[in-house]
Amino acid sequence: MVTVRLAKPADLLNMQHCNLLCLPENYQMKYYFYHGLSWPQMSFVAEDEHSGKIVGYVLAKMEEDPDDLPHGHITSLAVKRSHRRAGLARKLMDQSARAMVESFSARYVSLHVRVSNRAALSLYRDNLGFQISEVESRYYGDGEDAYAMRRDLTTLLASCEETEKKLEQEFAKLTLGKEDAAIVDNKSESYKPEVQKSEDAVENTADKPEDISSPVNLTSKDRTENDDIEGSKSDENSKIICEQNLDSHVNKVDDID
Ligand SMILES: CC(C)(COP(=O)(O)OP(=O)(O)OC[C@H]1O[C@@H](n2cnc3c(N)ncnc32)[C@H](O)[C@@H]1OP(=O)(O)O)[C@@H](O)C(=O)NCCC(=O)NCCS
Repeated sequence: MVTVRLAKPADLLNMQHCNLLCLPENYQMKYYFYHGLSWPQMSFVAEDEHSGKIVGYVLAKMEEDPDDLPHGHITSLAVKRSHRRAGLARKLMDQSARAMVESFSARYVSLHVRVSNRAALSLYRDNLGFQISEVESRYYGDGEDAYAMRRDLTTLLASCEETEKKLEQEFAKLTLGKEDAAIVDNKSESYKPEVQKSEDAVENTADKPEDISSPVNLTSKDRTENDDIEGSKSDENSKIICEQNLDSHVNKVDDID
């Protein structure tokens, strides 16, 4: 059986070996270390559990262009002949893309591929949704042109953010209780606080989420200042009020314990 897992420093030499077997584009060992040490979340290997050998890898990095959207780049991908057409390259590429999104909010991933590499082109374009962004003339050392390709990751990013938000809410519910969870998710419309009966309702009005997320606790002076400084300051105030409120609830829980 073959497993796809995060690459460790001890794998880098075997990744280089696999690269030498599969591709004419080779790199010095320090280039592998540069990737592994700078972006340890992003490179993956396919390991044959029976033999313990590395049979495939993806070597990836983030591009550090401040004028562009955050995006990752696939430096190299290869799977040994003996293990091809088993879906390994696809898995390696998907894992790396997910890591780029989760760790660096990458909006897209880019790569280069030889115009004659039909297997890789089919993988990228037909399976993974990459699109050709341009043809780079004589990109390779032997004079062959490259397709520069990109895969949009914004849908994956949105789904990761949604999952993260749900987990935060679940965590808040578990640790703080329902009402505080609604405070954490102060934009959520799905949470409806239970209708409280007369006395409780009067006593607890200050705990209701709407009291906390709206700026009613501000003095008129504060409000005027906020209006002058645009929306961001008022967001900050809401956050501070929300955090203060959470603190007071945490203290309450501590008191009970
Ligand atoms: C390109 C390469 C990484 C693909 O690895 P792989 O593990 O065999 O790929 P997968 O099994 O994940 O293939 C997924 C899909 O890609 C396409 N594909 C892969 N190899 C293909 C081939 N030889 N011919 C046509 N399509 C191919 C198929 O659509 C395949 O799906 P399918 O098997 O259900 O038909 C591998 O052939 C390789 O290492 N080649 C040499 C190194 C290289 O070219 N790297 C890319 C440099 S940019």
